[in-house]
Amino acid sequence: MGAKAFQKKYGPWALITGASSGIGEAMAFEAARRRLNVVLVARSEARLADISVQLKQTYGVETRMIVADLARADGVAAVTGRTEALDIGLLANCAGYGTSGDFVDIPAEDELDMIDVNCRASAALTHVFSKRFIERGKGAIILMSSIVAFQGVARSANYAATKAWAQVFAEGLRLELAPRGIDVLAVAPGPVNSGFAARAGMQMGGAARPVTIARGAFRALGRTGLVRPGALAKLLGYSLSMLPRFARRRIMSTIMKGMTRHRNGDASKA
Ligand SMILES: NC(=O)c1ccc[n+]([C@@H]2O[C@H](COP(=O)([O-])OP(=O)(O)OC[C@H]3O[C@@H](n4cnc5c(N)ncnc54)[C@H](OP(=O)(O)O)[C@@H]3O)[C@@H](O)[C@H]2O)c1
Repeated sequence: MGAKAFQKKYGPWALITGASSGIGEAMAFEAARRRLNVVLVARSEARLADISVQLKQTYGVETRMIVADLARADGVAAVTGRTEALDIGLLANCAGYGTSGDFVDIPAEDELDMIDVNCRASAALTHVFSKRFIERGKGAIILMSSIVAFQGVARSANYAATKAWAQVFAEGLRLELAPRGIDVLAVAPGPVNSGFAARAGMQMGGAARPVTIARGAFRALGRTGLVRPGALAKLLGYSLSMLPRFARRRIMSTIMKGMTRHRNGDASKA
């Protein structure tokens, strides 16, 4: 889809959560490249300000910044309240994080906040924007799934479950919203070179660049319900999908063990 058609279908404004880093930041640039104005949401004000300047200077688009903690209900309310007057046509739920290690060894607060950011905030924003998009008769919603979303994964049990939620939610929602003119896309990358690994305490080999994920997602919008951007995500995703669930569990848990081996059994958040 050319920039003009994209702007007509999903513009004039895009709302990107997690826009201060990694995949969300790359999606903000992809949206601006297609001449959409961008609302940037995250907690890191200085990073958002920097990205906002870059988007304006490079693409001449308008931007808004909303500094909000999406683990908190007032953070989510700030986003919905401060976007009421904007004609937003694209919501990309990119805010999220992971932990690694045995669930029982990780502080409960980290695990519960993860559910709030990865699931609850995405559900709340998607609910509000689905209604707004239905009124406009068009729009798009992106949810961040993952290669870990398709089976249980040891040393990432809760994180994988939040991604399974995003995947299954996107699949069902797509069927509900397609007749109303709204596109829903689940994006399921493999390892991506972003701020994610450091925060989760993982070491990733063969990680894709965030721009690869953002471009793959934007290209897939309106064409399909699931995209696996990046060579490793495609290779692993499609080959694993042929295997029974118990085999997928074993393989993904072994991969996760390898990604956390450097910590010698320290099972806390980085
Ligand atoms: N990297 C990977 O290997 C990978 C693979 C598959 C799926 N994913 C998914 O892709 C999404 C983006 O991850 P990423 O790789 O881009 O990681 P990242 O570089 O660490 O970016 C995460 C973003 O989420 C924001 N965020 C985290 N906690 C937040 C909170 N409480 N309130 C508001 N914003 C918050 C961060 O902003 P602030 O810290 O400024 O708030 C940041 O902008 C996540 O959902 C992740 O699960 C990542």
